[in-house]
Amino acid sequence: MAHDLVIVANRLPVDRVTGRDGETTWRRSPGGLVSAIEPVMRAGDGVWVGWPGGTEQHLEPFEIDGLHLVPLSMTAEEITEHYEGFSNATLWPLYHDVVAKPEFHREWWDAYTRVNERFAEHAAELAAEGATVWVHDYQLQLVPQMLRERRPDLRIGFYLHIPFPPAELFQQLPWRRQILEGLLGADLIGFQLPGAAQNFVRLVRQRVGHKTHRDRVHLPDGREVRAAAFPISIDAAGFEELASSEPVAERAAAIREALGNPRKIFLGIDRLDYTKGIHARLRAYGELVRDEHFSVEDAVFVQVAVPSREQVEQYRILRDDIDRLVGRLNGDLGRIGRPAISYLHSSYPREEMAALYRAADIMVVTPYRDGMNLVAKEYVACRIEEDGALVLSEFAGAADELRQAWLVNPYDINGMKAALLDAYRAEPKELSRRMKAMRKQIAQHDVKAWADSFLTSLADDGADTDARDS
Ligand code: G6P
Repeated sequence: MAHDLVIVANRLPVDRVTGRDGETTWRRSPGGLVSAIEPVMRAGDGVWVGWPGGTEQHLEPFEIDGLHLVPLSMTAEEITEHYEGFSNATLWPLYHDVVAKPEFHREWWDAYTRVNERFAEHAAELAAEGATVWVHDYQLQLVPQMLRERRPDLRIGFYLHIPFPPAELFQQLPWRRQILEGLLGADLIGFQLPGAAQNFVRLVRQRVGHKTHRDRVHLPDGREVRAAAFPISIDAAGFEELASSEPVAERAAAIREALGNPRKIFLGIDRLDYTKGIHARLRAYGELVRDEHFSVEDAVFVQVAVPSREQVEQYRILRDDIDRLVGRLNGDLGRIGRPAISYLHSSYPREEMAALYRAADIMVVTPYRDGMNLVAKEYVACRIEEDGALVLSEFAGAADELRQAWLVNPYDINGMKAALLDAYRAEPKELSRRMKAMRKQIAQHDVKAWADSFLTSLADDGADTDARDS
């Protein structure tokens, strides 16, 4: 069946649930992306192509809550080389300021190309004449061009959810030109921040030699590609509603109680990733307790670390590092029944996250580099009483919008300590002044607005080009 809108992303928006009888069923994952795109998918008879996780082969297309999903299988080797290898041990660290050293392996690149090819083939088969195809993220940067070769009639959009690095770092990549050309297959390329779009345009000029003007690239065949910022957001109203519900309020109170009703709760929620700066933030908190700025009765730190990419070496090393640090800090600072840090290596449903956000007085988001960071925005959306403090890294995309947070440089431990302490001591009036402003920003720029603005822009640019052509 041909569809007017095709979403192409490395993952399908579902989680696999294995029942007692061993049978697999699917549950919709709670991600913001799918809820944002859902109305457009329904209206445009949309379909979503992606990997459902695992190595199961020959999966049939299926429907969940009326959404058409087309699973694309990966072999164990493709998972190792395309997903864990090129996507998450080459591109991920390279695009995040080389926080870890990227590995370059030619076999990984070959697998990345093959998997991208398969995604492009599927999308080409599913798209109706003149359809819109929206490709997502760093795992699939070759798809736009591969798709255009097969289907020049399509409107192709690409959105990068993670940072796009400065030329000085991107140039390390042995396949830099292929990646740039892959992306240029799109009509519109969306980034989180204007700086990332500028990095891209500059690289295209330098490395591919195309003419550029502001946010446009002029290709030799007359086609124009636009690169611009579309900062992603969350379902703000959905989070607010959840946070306002009775069960979540009760759960938040129960969490505080279980922690011994401390005066203040610090909270970190991250995928367990070396870009997130978990180690440095826990050290900063630990030093504040050690130096008696507050005691573990006054302030505890709850750190949720969601398991992620556990087969990739850097992630294993990080896990061991964090385990060791938490053990040491609790050993040095904790009292009986009062650990300094409550460390949870687990993922939680949205309701529990909302309860944690409501329970926490100070949210600590200190990545070394982050495309956006939706946790920061979720915290703000859940602070329905307009209190609570956000300590936020300058190097998260969210810092561009959430100016009233306590902004920190995560490499500066003393600076972070000062910000944590300042947030800890802040007067209610100060907290509410800051939180009100941030809540207004999030309410006005939610994920629906993000998806609409990207898709409208993709359609309009097409209209412009068509008008010029005729
Ligand atoms: C980041 C990426 C996404 C990715 C997600 C989870 O947000 O931008 O593309 O899906 O992390 O990572 P995973 O490797 O589990 O898909």
